[in-house]
Amino acid sequence: MIFRSLAVAGLSATAVQAHLAPYVKGMYALNGAVAGVVNYNNEDVVYPLWQLSQSDWWFHGYNNVPDFPPADGDFLELPAGGSFTVEIASNQGKTSLSFNGAYTSEWPDGNTYPEDYNIPTCITSPNMHAQNQSMAAGTAFAISYTSTLSEVTPGNLVVFSVAYNTPWKRVQSYDVPAAMPACPEGGCICGWGWVPNGCGEPNMYHLPYRCKVTGATGTKAVGTPKPPVWCQDDPSSCVSGPKQMVYWNQLEGNNIEVSGYDNAGDPKSPGYNGNCGFADGAQNDIFTGGSVSGAKTSSTTSVKEEPKVATTTTSKTSSSTVAPSATSSAAAAAAPTSLLDMVMTGAMAMTVGMGMTAAMKTAATMLRTWNRVMGTTAATRNSSRVMAMIADMVMTAATTMRTLNPAMVMTADTVMIVDTAMTGVMGTTAATATTVAPTASPSNWF
Ligand SMILES: *[C@@H]1O[C@H](CO)[C@@H](O)[C@H](O)[C@H]1NC(C)=O
Ligand SMILES: *[C@@H]1O[C@H](CO)[C@@H](O)[C@H](O)[C@H]1NC(C)=O
Repeated sequence: MIFRSLAVAGLSATAVQAHLAPYVKGMYALNGAVAGVVNYNNEDVVYPLWQLSQSDWWFHGYNNVPDFPPADGDFLELPAGGSFTVEIASNQGKTSLSFNGAYTSEWPDGNTYPEDYNIPTCITSPNMHAQNQSMAAGTAFAISYTSTLSEVTPGNLVVFSVAYNTPWKRVQSYDVPAAMPACPEGGCICGWGWVPNGCGEPNMYHLPYRCKVTGATGTKAVGTPKPPVWCQDDPSSCVSGPKQMVYWNQLEGNNIEVSGYDNAGDPKSPGYNGNCGFADGAQNDIFTGGSVSGAKTSSTTSVKEEPKVATTTTSKTSSSTVAPSATSSAAAAAAPTSLLDMVMTGAMAMTVGMGMTAAMKTAATMLRTWNRVMGTTAATRNSSRVMAMIADMVMTAATTMRTLNPAMVMTADTVMIVDTAMTGVMGTTAATATTVAPTASPSNWF
């Protein structure tokens, strides 16, 4: 009680330069944390947490944020292998969630600043606790595979995405690991965290969201997270694999202690960055748990992804028009552009539902494969060998991508693209192509 009063007093003093928090559908305390009051200028979530009891700092309990869940059906959606955006702001009124975004700017407080905004004595408007973007400490989202906030503990809340050099601008995106498994029926609980690097009170931020993974095909659960450790001087001592959020400078519940100065000569501050072993972007090393059934959201997913098949249809048409309809010997001459187009089209089509990041990686892999095969082909290999390798490459890629994205198995488009490629180049079908090229191994092409 005493600490709550102190904290509230402290808040009043700093209210003129309100701090920052991510506003987004699925957040707790949208429109404020005061019962019966709809506050479109809600800033109940932006205040920092410092030297509080565990129940007061945990998910911003001191002003009851956990008691204001999002509306039924509202989730922060996390597309597996893609990214999601939030609006980091000093007040809900400065986001698109209020007043149709009338008071927004590129920056968190609705004002305008230079692109290279830099104040050596610390930027205080907006209050981002940094001198400039390169000094911004980093922020993170974590996930707990339970639908009930009261069941979330430091031991099941795992950091899955980190954005270095944030908070900075209002609209901020976070990458989602491609291997994120689906949430339970009622969704998951996510947490956002920020530990600023100096420029004011050494506090932290910890807020709850209701979230769910979309397009999930992952089959391994997140592992049990360990507390991060400071490892700036010795990266080999960083904690690898799943990590807890950073809990620091509270009266209880801290999971990290630091002392002394960092390499820049500032007091050590354990943030969501390399100093505590966090990689930038999706945390892909967290799936060390047991196998999970990915089936729960797959029906929803295929329904949701259905509109995207429009892309596949367009691509299929274009690959059909470029597919050579000749014998394999004539196809050898035509192959370099038409087959490349088909391979890339096939790659993109088969990644529907994987999310943009994973899709781009797959397309890049296909392109590298193509370059490798054709680069050695033109000068040194006979055309039947080349065709055999390409047949194998396409079939291997198709199989791999169907494994990654089981929803695609069900679409006729996938099969048609492979068929078109095989028929056009080999004068044969997908089924018979596999017997033409039994030996080539994809690992030889990289
Ligand atoms: C950012 O601030 C730090 C600390 O004041 C300073 O060392 C650095 O040069 C600044 N960088 C830019 C790009 O202004
Ligand atoms: C051309 O490729 C075929 C099929 O892989 C192979 O059997 C044949 O030996 C190759 N010819 C030459 C000259 O390398």
